[in-house]
Amino acid sequence: MKTEMIVVDKCVDEENSYTQAVETLKSGEVVAFPTETVYGLGADATNFEAVSKIFEAKGRPADNPLIVHVDSKESALNYVQEVSPKALQCMDAFWPGALTLIMQAKPETFASNVTANLQTVGIRVPNHPVALKLLHEVKLPLAAPSANTSGKPSPTLANHVRHDMDGRIPLILDGGATEIGIESTVLDTTCEPPVILRPGKITKEQIESVIGTIRSSSGNKDNVPKSPGMKYMHYAPTAPLYLIEDEKSLIEKAIQYVQEKGKRVAVISEMDYPLADFNFPLSMESLYASLRECDFTDADLILAPVKSSDQDQDALMNRLEKAADHKWFS
Ligand code: TXA
Ligand code: MG
Repeated sequence: MKTEMIVVDKCVDEENSYTQAVETLKSGEVVAFPTETVYGLGADATNFEAVSKIFEAKGRPADNPLIVHVDSKESALNYVQEVSPKALQCMDAFWPGALTLIMQAKPETFASNVTANLQTVGIRVPNHPVALKLLHEVKLPLAAPSANTSGKPSPTLANHVRHDMDGRIPLILDGGATEIGIESTVLDTTCEPPVILRPGKITKEQIESVIGTIRSSSGNKDNVPKSPGMKYMHYAPTAPLYLIEDEKSLIEKAIQYVQEKGKRVAVISEMDYPLADFNFPLSMESLYASLRECDFTDADLILAPVKSSDQDQDALMNRLEKAADHKWFS
């Protein structure tokens, strides 16, 4: 299959590109599109065959459900039932935006592979002009996981999507770099109090300021993960990534130790280490691009300095820990 990439203007005045994307989606094919978090791999969420093409293109395990994207709260309410007052408050406060709400799905609404046969569904209204325009014109709910090969970092540029999906999907809408750079916060609103299943740009504190106390499932080891995606490998670069305490002399020692063994080191960090063979920036916006850049080097090992005490970096730490598979350099 040939993969076409079309640059779409964020001012959304290019009618023709949308017509092509809408027709492709309606014919049951997959289209990658930008959101404010990361690029999504979209298909008609009511069409089993179309959704199965997402799983195939990503190599995604079938028991990991997909997030459904809609253009408004009103659209979302067509697909869910027994919606809690807190979920409604979250919609009003955070949509469009980087918050996915897990709710009870109306039976027979979505293709069964969207929800991995669960009775719940994750829905969000993305805050990106291209995604909103596409959803508005296609008039369908779009199932859209991040547009990466399963296990790899999510794409924050259309080129990342092309790298992973070339020859696997017919169309990529290129809307430039995504603003936030990590995936949406996932909040389960089917329990009381609601639980954050995946931290993101929208923080626990921001949500609590709207609906009161909630729980956060990360770090709670007794809890069986309710978000099926959490048990899989994530965001992994090819070379092993190690977290290391953010202390200059310690990091320099680590770099030298590895280099003395004849190996090359990449560092993903807020500051550059001239000793390292490669340096890439560390922030929420740049993390995934940096992880992907490491794959284009011959680094044997990657170090990511983090402050183990840093609590306000919840979402970034969560992604780094997964990318490192919780390994610390010692
Ligand atoms: O920012 C985002 O959320 C991006 C963009 C494209 O919107 N999408 C995204 O989708 O990150 P995906 O499929 O890569 O991640 C979906 C996460 C997974 O961890 C999945 O297990 C969880 O949401 N999830 C989906 N439906 C769920 C459900 N019914 N119950 C619990 N967790 C669910
Ligand atoms: Mg993903």
